[in-house]
Amino acid sequence: MGAPRSPCALGSLLCCCLLSVVLAQRVNVQDEVTGYVGQEVTLPCTFTNASPDVKVSQVTWVKETGTKKQNVAVYHPVHGPSYLIEKGTGRIRFRAPSLQDATLVIAPLHMSDEGIYTCEFATYPLGNEDGVTSLTILAKPTNFAEALEVKAGNTEVPVAACTSANGKPAAHITWQSGLNGNFTVSEVTNTNGTVTVTSHYVMVPTKEANEQRIFCHIDQKTLVQPEALLVTLSILYPPEVVIHGYDNNWYLNRDDAVLTCSATGNPPPTDFSWTTPSGQLPNTVAVKGERLVVRNVDASVNTTFICHATNRVGRVSSEQVIFVRDQPAKRQSGSAGALVGSIVGGILALAIVGALIVVFVLRRRRLRATKGSYDPKTRVFGNGTAPPPVRNFAELDRPLKAAPGRGQEEEEEEEEEEHKDRRLPYVYPPRRLEDEEEQFDQLGPMLRLNSSPRGYEYDDMESQHDGSIISKTAVYV
Ligand SMILES: *[C@@H]1O[C@H](CO)[C@@H](O)[C@H](O)[C@H]1NC(C)=O
Ligand SMILES: *[C@@H]1O[C@H](CO)[C@@H](O)[C@H](O)[C@H]1NC(C)=O
Ligand SMILES: *[C@@H]1O[C@H](CO)[C@@H](O)[C@H](O)[C@H]1NC(C)=O
Repeated sequence: MGAPRSPCALGSLLCCCLLSVVLAQRVNVQDEVTGYVGQEVTLPCTFTNASPDVKVSQVTWVKETGTKKQNVAVYHPVHGPSYLIEKGTGRIRFRAPSLQDATLVIAPLHMSDEGIYTCEFATYPLGNEDGVTSLTILAKPTNFAEALEVKAGNTEVPVAACTSANGKPAAHITWQSGLNGNFTVSEVTNTNGTVTVTSHYVMVPTKEANEQRIFCHIDQKTLVQPEALLVTLSILYPPEVVIHGYDNNWYLNRDDAVLTCSATGNPPPTDFSWTTPSGQLPNTVAVKGERLVVRNVDASVNTTFICHATNRVGRVSSEQVIFVRDQPAKRQSGSAGALVGSIVGGILALAIVGALIVVFVLRRRRLRATKGSYDPKTRVFGNGTAPPPVRNFAELDRPLKAAPGRGQEEEEEEEEEEHKDRRLPYVYPPRRLEDEEEQFDQLGPMLRLNSSPRGYEYDDMESQHDGSIISKTAVYV
């Protein structure tokens, strides 16, 4: 509410105080208004006239900046509105010019619009009545952060800068990092009232800090949420050089000897050069950038090679002493080749042992089956039980033999031969190793059928199984 400023017309202290209370309610304003640069702001001001005896003759807005006072706008019922600070721009205007409503609109807002605004009603017989509004202009800052390229060293230096420029009010800057650093903050107030805040992140610039990520946090009244700006540090350091490729086995006439110079640094070194202590490279070597290729190892290579790597920060070298042998060095038993060989050998040995165990188990199972009675699990009939009726199966295979006129002995011998011939395809169909056991079980009855009339020896047959299975197993391994 506006503070009454008018003198008490009736002179009585009591009356004056009563009038003040009444008057205080007549001019309606907001104490504080904020606005953004470039946008619109409204300064409300209305006059509530409770008594028909009070006449309003004119409305005036006065702006106060520091010690300076200016009339901004005047409304007179006969002469109309008048804008005194800016004539003809239309940037400042009464919203609805009248003797009851003095509300002022400013758009677009300038930084210079900030100040104390007094809304005055000239009345009769009470004199001037007014209300005061403080207009504060906010400015959204421009925020940015960057790494400061510095050379690695032992003393603290700024490695990153973060700026919140031309904001109002001033921004608040902090840093978030896992590094052992510190930061400084400085503020500059511009003539238009905005503030530029600059912060530096300060630390000892180690090469380990290169490419580390830190964040600058900026908080300011006009930001919806604090802004976090990423900075990737850039600490410059000279090359760190290593020569790879010497295996301590360079012998005369070797033709695949290569040295490689690898260097890290910031910026990454791209300039490499090779030399020897004598300053001359042997004729048998060729240099391609960071690679030194020896076309043919000879006595001239029996020297020290030096690689220089250069970046913006410095030039660093590394050496490799070469010892040329007359003969290739003997490979040690612990070499990679021997290791691989023994691993492969071990796997093979394990596989063979495994195969033998499988065969042994199968054989024992069959032996058990032929001694006992029917085993539902192995599906094998034991001693004394009649074979299952699969005779048709055997007869189907027989039409070509049993020619008439032959003796029983002859026929039996022939049949025996035939069984021997037939045995292989029946007993060893091509199956996978896992199926071997099942296969044996299924074949049990059939083998008995074929052999029992003739009185075949199981041992004889099994010895054949064993031989074949072992060879098959070996193939699978
Ligand atoms: C950070 O700066 C403050 C004040 O300058 C100082 O007291 C403090 O020791 C510094 N901390 C580090 C880690 O440098
Ligand atoms: C304030 O002044 C600075 C330079 O002094 C200028 O860069 C900036 O744009 C100005 N801001 C406004 C809102 O006028
Ligand atoms: C290389 O030099 C060493 C001594 O530095 C020497 O013992 C060796 O015989 C030399 N090799 C050849 C192939 O000349």
